[in-house]
Amino acid sequence: MSDKVAYTRHDNIAVLTIKNPPVNALSQAVRQGLMDQMDHAEADTGVDAVVIVGDGRAFIAGADITEFGKPPMAPSLPDVVDRIEASPLLVIAAMHGVSLGGGLEVAMGCHYRIAVPSARIGLPEVHLGLIPGAGGTQRLPRLIGVAAALDVMTTGRQVGASEALEMGVIDTIKDGNPLENGLSFAAELLEGKASRRPVSEMPAPEGIDWDAAYEATLVRGRGQISPAQCVRAVQASVERPFAEGMLTERQIFMELLKSDQSKGMIHAFFSERAVGHLPELKGVAPRVIEHIGVIGGGTMGAGIATAALLSGLRVSLLEMTAQAGEAAHARISGNLSGALKRGKITPEQHDTILSQALRVITDYQGLADVDLVIEAVFEDMSVKKQVFTQLDAVCKQGAILATNTSYLDVDEIAAATSRPQDVIGLHFFSPAHVMKLLEIVVADKTAIDVVATGFELGKRLKKINVRAGVCDGFIGNRILATYRSASDQMILEGASPYAIDAALEAFGFAMGPYAVADLAGLDIGWAVRKRKRAELGVEGARTYADKLCEAGHFGQKTGKGYYDYAAGLKARVPNPDVLELIAQERSETGITPIEFTAAQIVRRYMAAMVNEAAKVVGEGVARRPLDVDMTLLFGYGFPRYHGGPLKWADIVGLPDLLADIEECAKQDPAFWEPAPLLKELVAAGKTFDDLNKAG
Ligand code: 3HC
Ligand code: NAI
Repeated sequence: MSDKVAYTRHDNIAVLTIKNPPVNALSQAVRQGLMDQMDHAEADTGVDAVVIVGDGRAFIAGADITEFGKPPMAPSLPDVVDRIEASPLLVIAAMHGVSLGGGLEVAMGCHYRIAVPSARIGLPEVHLGLIPGAGGTQRLPRLIGVAAALDVMTTGRQVGASEALEMGVIDTIKDGNPLENGLSFAAELLEGKASRRPVSEMPAPEGIDWDAAYEATLVRGRGQISPAQCVRAVQASVERPFAEGMLTERQIFMELLKSDQSKGMIHAFFSERAVGHLPELKGVAPRVIEHIGVIGGGTMGAGIATAALLSGLRVSLLEMTAQAGEAAHARISGNLSGALKRGKITPEQHDTILSQALRVITDYQGLADVDLVIEAVFEDMSVKKQVFTQLDAVCKQGAILATNTSYLDVDEIAAATSRPQDVIGLHFFSPAHVMKLLEIVVADKTAIDVVATGFELGKRLKKINVRAGVCDGFIGNRILATYRSASDQMILEGASPYAIDAALEAFGFAMGPYAVADLAGLDIGWAVRKRKRAELGVEGARTYADKLCEAGHFGQKTGKGYYDYAAGLKARVPNPDVLELIAQERSETGITPIEFTAAQIVRRYMAAMVNEAAKVVGEGVARRPLDVDMTLLFGYGFPRYHGGPLKWADIVGLPDLLADIEECAKQDPAFWEPAPLLKELVAAGKTFDDLNKAG
């Protein structure tokens, strides 16, 4: 018999304890254990009720996701839930921690549900590209009505115990030990002669306008199909008998399980967790960090300081002048007010942070006792070197010196100090207190415990931490520079920026690259281009993008860029001057424009992204393909349901993609030189995911 579900007897009540750490996922052994122990309880003379409880930190976190995509193993979860519900005994779920997905479905198969106040429930299957597949779409609407059930299912959000009680998902809340609660609740129910209460036998709820709900959910999902499919499954719960509704649910679930979207999202789920696991950091003790310094309180410095303060660290922020210091203080204060408004901190925490944890200074001596300092001054090597020389002079021994540079050489910055082993890149994304990605850039001489501390700090700041090697732009910005160039080239060849944005938005990006450029400010790229041209001595070579900036159009902040924002930021319309400038440049360079379909645009954009990503992995700048995938997902708005560029590449097929790249290389061999790693994988008939699995 499976040892994953323990059986104990407490007078006339049997207790089934699920023991499958860390979160009691419903593996085959757990499913079999539940079946067997239900049989045991029913055969055990004198047992009147069964309490199901989870050992450890959760009731049940859902189906075992590692089994998805493998041949199904009996008993199936829907059968287990039906078997529990059909028991002649009174069955009670005693919930604590999370009851998610299949976990909530098991609980809804029980006749009564009790939870501790900190318990959370949810049906997060949409985050895996799925719908609930063990009766969730049929039982939840019967318990709480269609609107509330659709809200829970289509958002996949976690619902706290008190809201779950109000909705009617659980019957009662009680503080204390979940098992004791379950036993006393069962005893009360038995004493009150409560009868079994199978949810499947409850009347179906009122219906809604299903087509309207389906369409609205599809639009909200921005191309993701599973939330809209929840609507169809719930529709079946209202319009068909329970057993038929279950068949509809199963059919949709099985179809989605085979879909590329669920493959992408399941890859994202595991990669998000795997990305921070580095074998070389096992057993390496991080340095203790309590007080950090931040140099520069502009966009990034203020955001980094905010993130650190919100995680409970003390921050000393250094600016060049008292006036710049005041501006930095105001920025941080504004960020903290936002956190207060969103309920992330209490008014007391807000006041304590501002009065005690934050200090704005202008004198480097104030950084003598910081444990780690993050530099976020102008992106200029000579300024960075000056800053690091000063830090080297004042910071205590063992302090970590980090740079937030976007592109510059961290080895060169480290060489400006007498302690390159303590120097590391911590590359945050804007706004730094919101964006989840942190690239941890390991330079040649960075000590291993400094790397471990970078990861520990990132965890504390609740970031997705990706290890990167030193190169121009590290993982993300280096790949970005390449696919943006490919995109700009497509414009010259004939695609409009609006067609490119539309194609990529349909692919799943929240904003296309030119809408993003307008948001970030066109002046940033303009300054870089001017600097590079000056370095190369080719100041005369101006592009349509330069001319747009020369006319004072920097995007959203000036009201015009690629788009015209006169009617509001959301009501963007193409700026006709842009098409004229592009047409002018095409004719000056003798280009006859060609048509691009949306599919061709996506294909070219993605080919450039994947090729550069393969170079980044091949050169060891990114450790594994999944590190690139997580960088693009959490830093660059890559649609989660594609899993990341390299998972997307695996799904569409590497040989075809390589053929596309080789075709482009006929026009521009230097830019489109196929990545050696991609060629190797194609020759060996392997995928990027094979490299992830190899570690
Ligand atoms: N299956 C398999 N492994 C799981 C799992 C699951 N359902 N849930 C979590 N794990 C694993 C994680 O991969 C991780 O493994 P690792 O240590 O090797 O990286 C470990 O358990 C701990 O997980 P976290 O690091 O995420 O721990 P947290 O405490 O931060 O979060 C959690 C716990 C909230 C349960 C979070 O893990 C989670 O959201 N899990 C997924 C829940 C989910 O999606 N459930 C629905 C599954 S689909 C389903 O039930 C289909 C059904 O309708 C038929
Ligand atoms: P910013 O121009 O908004 O802020 C820079 C701040 O540094 C200014 O407040 C300035 O007064 C201060 N400063 C300059 N020299 C200083 C010195 N010697 N000592 C103390 N303070 C000094 O710039 P931003 O955008 O915050 O960028 C900072 C760094 O972060 C750059 O290296 C940039 O490449 C990088 N970065 C920027 C991102 C972005 O989206 N803006 C994203 C990720 C990294």
